[in-house]
Amino acid sequence: MSTRININGVITGPEDARIPVLDHGLLFGDSVYETLRTYNGKPFLFPRHFARLEHSAAAIDLKLPWSKTKTREEIVRTLLAGECRIRLMVTRGVGELAADIETCTEPAVIIIAVPFVQLPERIYQQGVDVVISSVRRSGRLADIKTGSLIHQVLARREAKSKHAFEAILLTADEKISDGITSNIYMVRDGKILTPAHDAGIVEGITRNVILQLARDKGLQVVEGFFDVGEISNAEEMFLTSTTREVVPIARVDGRPVGSGKPGPVTLMLLSAYRSAIRELTDE
Ligand code: PDD
Repeated sequence: MSTRININGVITGPEDARIPVLDHGLLFGDSVYETLRTYNGKPFLFPRHFARLEHSAAAIDLKLPWSKTKTREEIVRTLLAGECRIRLMVTRGVGELAADIETCTEPAVIIIAVPFVQLPERIYQQGVDVVISSVRRSGRLADIKTGSLIHQVLARREAKSKHAFEAILLTADEKISDGITSNIYMVRDGKILTPAHDAGIVEGITRNVILQLARDKGLQVVEGFFDVGEISNAEEMFLTSTTREVVPIARVDGRPVGSGKPGPVTLMLLSAYRSAIRELTDE
């Protein structure tokens, strides 16, 4: 089986995985989720992902049905041989055909494990193209991961039509926020500049590791509000996410960032991140 799906503790292949159509996760995007991956067959930084899931669930008044221990056990039971990408979702569950959470009784837990597809090494060696999205990020509930992802779907479609690897979303007042599913960074004068929490970002688990590594290396980190125009002054740019680690950004809207090649700070942080993985797998 190349995909395994666990619904409320029952594991099947995708053909047999079913959720009721009256689940409010399907009807209203009323769900929360996390994307994790394994390294050496173990879910990476699970406690941090579970903490963020708790944060997301609390923000929409959803009670997680499983404890942290039970959730981890069920994820491990669902894994395939080889490295996996994992989506952990909790939906509001079955209710009436109205956006009223009080009609729902039991939340449903869904764990999907698929083989992890490693990005080609040339992506890290050459960097990628990103575009500025026409989709804006709203500040409200920006830092929680819910299943209401239509903005991300539209931003991905637009980015793909421009052959871009990722798109940068701006806030309503044109400050840099997140990528579609990644955090964004600029390097200038030896400093790491990255949008602050209130710029409508998801606080990436990878972001927290990277900012700590940067500080450990003596780099100054500035979390702030950056105009899109500041991109032209960046010496380097990169993005981070669980599944992509640290990816150099070579061009934004076709214009080279700095030299147009992955810069030394980006490559140093990529290498530091990969070295840190071993000790972090035991967390
Ligand atoms: N996305 N910003 C947004 C909007 C995200 O959706 C994500 C993660 C991140 C990076 O977070 P982390 O480092 O914890 O992966 C930033 C995952 C990969 C997803 O949506 O599948």
